[in-house]
This record gives sequence, structure tokens and C-alpha cells, in this order.
Amino acid sequence: MPKTTFTDWPQVVKFVSQARNSGHLLTNFYADEGRMKEWCADGSFSAVSAGNAEFLVHDRQGFMNLFYFANDVETLGCALNRFVIEIGTRRTIADVIGPDPLRLPVVGKFTQTGFSQISELVRMSRKTPDAKPCVFAGVSSAQTCDLPYIHKALHTHFEPEVDQLPSKVELAQWIAHKAIWICRNDGGAPAGFIIYELLPASLYLRYWFVEPAMRGKGVGSRLMNAMFAAAAHTRRQYFWVKSDNATAIDRYVHYGFAFERIKDTILAYGNPEKEQ
Ligand SMILES: CC(C)(COP(=O)(O)OP(=O)(O)OC[C@H]1O[C@@H](n2cnc3c(N)ncnc32)[C@H](O)[C@@H]1OP(=O)(O)O)[C@@H](O)C(=O)NCCC(=O)NCCS
Repeated sequence: MPKTTFTDWPQVVKFVSQARNSGHLLTNFYADEGRMKEWCADGSFSAVSAGNAEFLVHDRQGFMNLFYFANDVETLGCALNRFVIEIGTRRTIADVIGPDPLRLPVVGKFTQTGFSQISELVRMSRKTPDAKPCVFAGVSSAQTCDLPYIHKALHTHFEPEVDQLPSKVELAQWIAHKAIWICRNDGGAPAGFIIYELLPASLYLRYWFVEPAMRGKGVGSRLMNAMFAAAAHTRRQYFWVKSDNATAIDRYVHYGFAFERIKDTILAYGNPEKEQ
């Protein structure tokens, strides 16, 4: 199967527009310009042609993420069969996103090809409520010196295959854009952080984390309230959460977030590789 490695973002834009113009409307690909420019720059992002369908592959440490473009589910299934023969046992992760009637037939094709479900995310959202006074003592914008702590905490407490963990470059950009709040204990040590993206009319919460020993003591509340204050001008607030993360979901429901119909089934193929 012919493979082309992207060297710059316009090549990706051209690839996606050609795929769409060819009627490949069945896809799990959502462009993220900042992140994908980084992938182009480090040579980790490629297109693989499977005849009637197209794939994009992002090579990460220990596994690769697979994105597909196909006309329909049957065509995707045939292309996936060819793809897995080509990759052998290389660990591959694919997200299939959508409401049940659209997502489940695609998930079925992946499982027939040898993929198995490793997790499921559900999207939750709320209409931004009117701002109310709140406390967030001990919370401030993360600084560059906090980057190693945040990076390590993400890699220790979240799952790289499931949580699309950011690179250090991306974390540095979020710190520069003041998109990370950090909470410190009385001695100044980090107790947790929250990372979010402010889009023109919406807030996208990316990661909310409190050190295990500090949970249930209001640290999460202070971080969440700091983020809500920064996002008071938005109209809608949303995020993805693992559907079995009852601790977090209880808290999100407490803040007025509700489940949407859209889910993300995360599927894996091949052998897990140890991180270097
Ligand atoms: C989720 C997490 C960040 C919560 O942190 P925390 O410090 O324990 O949270 P808090 O105790 O401050 O609770 C946050 C809010 O939920 C409320 N709350 C606490 N327990 C609750 C419960 N059982 N049900 C409903 N609401 C609850 C609190 O009152 C607080 O609301 P407030 O701001 O109105 O006072 C923490 O458990 C964690 O790091 N988990 C691992 C990472 C994770 O799962 N992140 C979320 C998915 S991305």
C-alpha cells in the first residue's frame, strides 16, 4: 500500500479535500491544525492509500493512531483487511465517533478485522450558566517551570492510547496561552491542574487532574471554578470523559453537564509496545 509522509500542513489540507471530493465522507478524522503541523514537522504523519479508501497514520511512541476516509462501511471493512495484513502486529489505535446508529456498524467492521474495544468515551456538555461568585484560592496560571510536572502527571495518571496526551510542545503552547490553571498546596507543591481550550463561543475541557492524596478536598472545585470564570463569555462548554469514570461524571453532573448522544469507541489492534 503506497505511503506518503506529510512534510507540511497544506499537504494535509489538500489530502483531506481530495478525499472528501472523492466521496469519502465516512471518516474519524477531525483536523487539529496546531497538533498536526507538529506531526508534519517531525515526520510522524503519513497517508496510506488502500485503493477504494484512504488512511492517515500518526506514529506515536509505542503505537500509531489510524484515521480513515471511505465511501461506506463495506469499503472501509475491505480496506481495513488490507491494512492489517500490511502492518503485522504493530499496535494501532482507532477512534470511531458518532451516535450509536452511525458508529456501531463501523465498530463492527473494526472488530471483524481483529481490533478490540479498549475504552469508550462519552461527550458531555452544558449551556454556559450565568456567572456566579466563586473561590479559587491557590490557583494560578501554569508557568513554563510547571511543564515537566504536568507532562509527567499526564503520562502517569492518564492512558496514552485513550487520552490523546499532548506533547511537550503543545503543553508549552497551552501554558503560553494561559490555558492551564494549576493549584498549589500551602507549601507551593502542585496539587492539580486543569487544561482547556477557549474557542470563540465554546469551552473545550481537555484534562482535569488532582493528585490522588489531595482528592475530595476541594482542589478540583477550585480548578473548575477558575476555568468557569475564564470561560464566562462562552455559550457552550463540553468535553469527553470515559463512560466508566463515575467519580468524574458525578462531579460533572453536579456542575450541570449532561450526556450527549455522541460517543467515541476506542479500538486497538496488535501488540502493546513498552514506552521507551
Ligand atoms: C475528577 C477529579 C479531578 C476531582 O477532583 P477533586 O479535588 O476530588 O474534586 P472536588 O472534591 O473538589 O469536587 C469537585 C466538585 O464536585 C462536588 N462533588 C464532590 N463529590 C461529589 C459527588 N460524589 N457527587 C457529586 N458532586 C460531588 C464538589 O462539591 C465540588 O463541587 P463545588 O465546586 O460545587 O464545591 C479527581 O478525582 C481526579 O483527578 N481524578 C482522576 C483524573 C480524572 O478522572 N479526571 C477527569 C476526567 S478528564
